[in-house]
Amino acid sequence: MANFNNKNTTEQETVNRFSNSVQTRLFDLLEAEKSDHELSAKKIQESYFYIPQIKENLHQLQNRRYIGSKHRLIKWIFSILEKECEGSDSFADIFSGTGVVSAVAARHFGKLILNDFLYSNYAIYQAFFGNGKWNKDKVYNIIKDYNNIYGGDLEDNYFSKHFGGKYFSKTSSKTIGFVRENIERNKNNLTVREYYILIASLLYSVDKIANTVGHYDAYFKKDFIEDIFFIKPIDPIDVGRVSIFREDTNLLVKKIKADIIYIDPPYNSRQYSRFYHVLETLTKWDKPKLHGVALKPDPENMSDYCRVQAGCRFAELVRDVDAKYLVVSYNNTYNSKSSSSKNKITLQEIRDILVTRGETKVFEKDYKHFNAGNTDFANHKEYLFVTKVNHE
Ligand SMILES: C[S@@+](CC[C@H](N)C(=O)[O-])C[C@H]1O[C@@H](n2cnc3c(N)ncnc32)[C@H](O)[C@@H]1O
Repeated sequence: MANFNNKNTTEQETVNRFSNSVQTRLFDLLEAEKSDHELSAKKIQESYFYIPQIKENLHQLQNRRYIGSKHRLIKWIFSILEKECEGSDSFADIFSGTGVVSAVAARHFGKLILNDFLYSNYAIYQAFFGNGKWNKDKVYNIIKDYNNIYGGDLEDNYFSKHFGGKYFSKTSSKTIGFVRENIERNKNNLTVREYYILIASLLYSVDKIANTVGHYDAYFKKDFIEDIFFIKPIDPIDVGRVSIFREDTNLLVKKIKADIIYIDPPYNSRQYSRFYHVLETLTKWDKPKLHGVALKPDPENMSDYCRVQAGCRFAELVRDVDAKYLVVSYNNTYNSKSSSSKNKITLQEIRDILVTRGETKVFEKDYKHFNAGNTDFANHKEYLFVTKVNHE
């Protein structure tokens, strides 16, 4: 009991220190100034991990352009987990993003938890990872019928009025809006899984043809956008026990436990809900009022991890997590020239917070991220922290 109290005191102090740091740089509160390059990190030999391969006629989970996707780092991450996290049977991916880390975890752990507060990501997890029943022939026939629709014959709808000639051609956007409306109207004739598989197939197919660099902060100004919309079904993944959430992570961690909790929050000021707003609007289908040139709805699901209080939220999260191992991804864009790419938390701060919960190792890999902006990513490194949580 004494140890338990001591641990809480140390963690509370850490949270307080980070709460107080809104005015000053968090860095200054630590014992000495260190550059965020100063941690000595290990490099490892990677092993082979199975990643589902591309199937021509189906969308695989990883076939998305998503900022911060760990798809190309899977082998490295799992090679570290294999060596450092022995005796683990459950895995919680609490900032799941694309879900690609969960897809590989599903093959190695008996119980899986996914979470992300975006509606589109939640729908995608329900479609790929859900264990509800669905009839393949029925879903494929519905999609075949959708693909026989010619947008030019349709009337304007919410989607085409707003996004036609901008993010998509006028004709494609009429079809997209018509299909989305039809899925909603047909909801009572679909199982929950079938509903989400149709939504996810639409989201992936829409994302493939979007007239953007990969997110929806802007579209290319063009006189002519090609009419190439075609729906391909998604290819669901077989998983054992799975729980899927759409919650603020800091609230969720108070309610869940897992042997490994994998933490991959955003680290800069770019809000995912603003970058992927078209997919959010298409998923929710509440036809909101849209604003500005980029046609964004009112802000929702704005992450504190993209704001000045990121360090404080991270410290609270680490304090509240119930796990044997905490595994944290981090990349070193802290010194980036573009202010929106600058990290809100430094490498040193992450380490100082994690050591309050137990022995912490850090691994590094040279890696260039998918980036659609003008950020200079020379000397870019990806880090993985593994904390073995003290339970005495
Ligand atoms: C860096 S991405 C995760 C990428 C993921 N590991 C992958 O491989 O695709 C961070 C994710 O956290 C989500 N997110 C940010 N703040 C959140 C919060 N407070 N609660 C829940 N999800 C949040 C974002 O929507 C985003 O998808």
